[in-house]
Amino acid sequence: MAISTGTKKIKTAVFISGTGSNLENLIKFSKLVKSPISIEQIISDNPKAKGLKFGKYFKIKTAVYNFRNINKAEKEILSDLRKKKINFICLAGFMKILSKKFIQNFRGKIINIHPSLLPKYKGLNTHQRVIKNKENFSGCTVHIVNSKLDAGKIILKKKVKISKKENSKSLARKILIQEHKLYPRAIKKLLSSL
Ligand code: GRF
Repeated sequence: MAISTGTKKIKTAVFISGTGSNLENLIKFSKLVKSPISIEQIISDNPKAKGLKFGKYFKIKTAVYNFRNINKAEKEILSDLRKKKINFICLAGFMKILSKKFIQNFRGKIINIHPSLLPKYKGLNTHQRVIKNKENFSGCTVHIVNSKLDAGKIILKKKVKISKKENSKSLARKILIQEHKLYPRAIKKLLSSL
């Protein structure tokens, strides 16, 4: 597979709070010649986020911000991103809600992946709620981030069939496989339309 040197790509930051499987997947995607992004910064609110290890592994800068004071954290992040000329943000399992003010600095340039077929099942514990409600389908959605939780314009969705024996863990695993396919596709779709 052809690997690019990263020139002329849109400088991107990925925000994470946990495992970072989507982060790893996006980093691999960003290294392809045809990828429109280069990942220059990994940001986390959680110093224990397992995904931070991918920074070391792929030689990408990581930074952890304390969101107990969200205002201060966002100001510092903004200044950090400006210095690095980053103008595209991918949220990948980032568990903090960004303020309206922060989002306004990146109009239409912050996107998120959510493990449900939005607008259904916004928020947390998605898989548990889906199973409890005996849904036949769930899935994942990539959307633009606005000031309302999981409510911005939808870029792409992927539907997943729920089997009779499904539990929230097996469903999460099934959907994560689709997330890894959907997120790069959604990035290409969005950035080619700008
Ligand atoms: C994913 O299911 C994503 O949709 C949700 O949080 C999970 C993060 O997983 N927002 P990972 O950290 O990328 O492995």
